[in-house]
Amino acid sequence: MAYKNIVELGNLKDKKVLVRVDFNVPLDNGIVQDTARIKNIGATIEFLQKAQAKIILISHLGKTTDSAPRQSLRCITDILSSTYNCNTVFVDDCLHKDAASIIASSGSNDIILLENLRFYREEEECNLEFAKQLASLADVYINEAFSTSHRAHASICAVPKFLPHALGLSFVREIGIIDDFFQQAGSPRMAIVGGKKLWTKIKLLKKLVSKVDKLALGGGIAGAFMAFTGHKALKIFNQKDYDADIRELIDNASKNNCELIFPTDYSALIGEGETFEHTVIYDDSHASVFDIGPESVELIKRHINECATILWNGPLGLFEKSPFDFGTKALAEEVAELSRNGKVYSIVGGGDTYHAMKKFGLEKDFTHLSTAGGAFLAYIEGSELPGLAAM
Ligand code: 3PG
Repeated sequence: MAYKNIVELGNLKDKKVLVRVDFNVPLDNGIVQDTARIKNIGATIEFLQKAQAKIILISHLGKTTDSAPRQSLRCITDILSSTYNCNTVFVDDCLHKDAASIIASSGSNDIILLENLRFYREEEECNLEFAKQLASLADVYINEAFSTSHRAHASICAVPKFLPHALGLSFVREIGIIDDFFQQAGSPRMAIVGGKKLWTKIKLLKKLVSKVDKLALGGGIAGAFMAFTGHKALKIFNQKDYDADIRELIDNASKNNCELIFPTDYSALIGEGETFEHTVIYDDSHASVFDIGPESVELIKRHINECATILWNGPLGLFEKSPFDFGTKALAEEVAELSRNGKVYSIVGGGDTYHAMKKFGLEKDFTHLSTAGGAFLAYIEGSELPGLAAM
């Protein structure tokens, strides 16, 4: 489906443009640890600066559980100013009584950043009155927050009811890249799916077996399939509730000529304590398995080298703890090198997957690396994103 994008909104000179961004960034002691989400929106910000529009940014940051501390978006201001060569005007309440006049009197080099939307519970409740008040600050609304568009929250779904609206440029680019993978990308096509819990990926796997030529599995997902087929060492991954889904997936893969690739060896923890010593196992029912083994890495590499397009979601092992980052890292390096040399078109994404690639220093090496977590998964599995439905 074609959605209206910001370029199609006509002349935006002096127009107040409310841009929903996703500045939900990792923090350590209030210091931003990853600036990708701030920098990714560059095309839209530069477009609006050139158009001489008044830019008003809105976002959430963090969760709103009782145990989570309230996190202010003030920590973003310096990075925003230096990235976009602007003066960031921070408004410490997204419904501040003076917000309208602050926006009206802002200068041509200013970007307005409103405080964390989730300070109001109405945001997550998708409250229409709250949305109307936000909308009253602007003439136009842009959704430039693909990574939050799986949330049916007020700033995503309700604000566009009150204003002319369109998608931002990086949002359009991101969904275009994913659409291309399914509709136009070169063959053979391969998907690599990892992650801990099978139930979070069933819908995705059902879609992939009908769309790709090869599907390599790792992590707890592979473990669940292997336990289903009777693998002793992987009994721990047995997820009986999903036996029917696994059966259906295996059958559909075979009907659609999708080759399923399972690990053939595993890396397991031996001993106890901090050192994380490991050994390679094939079939040992007492083992604590945390990664795929070297033979599996070579197997998956051979398949990767036969493909033109790769989609990857989910780490293949416990990448946070060496040596259990081995499988994910070795395969990430392979896909990265092939992508740099123009030999494969690679789309990599998902919250943990992004963090793994960043840990390995490979953020710039894929054709596309998404910083989105739940939204990336929802979009590739074919679920409707509330943020897109609202458009
Ligand atoms: C994300 O980081 O995935 C998005 O910002 C959504 O955040 P949430 O899971 O707190 O809604």
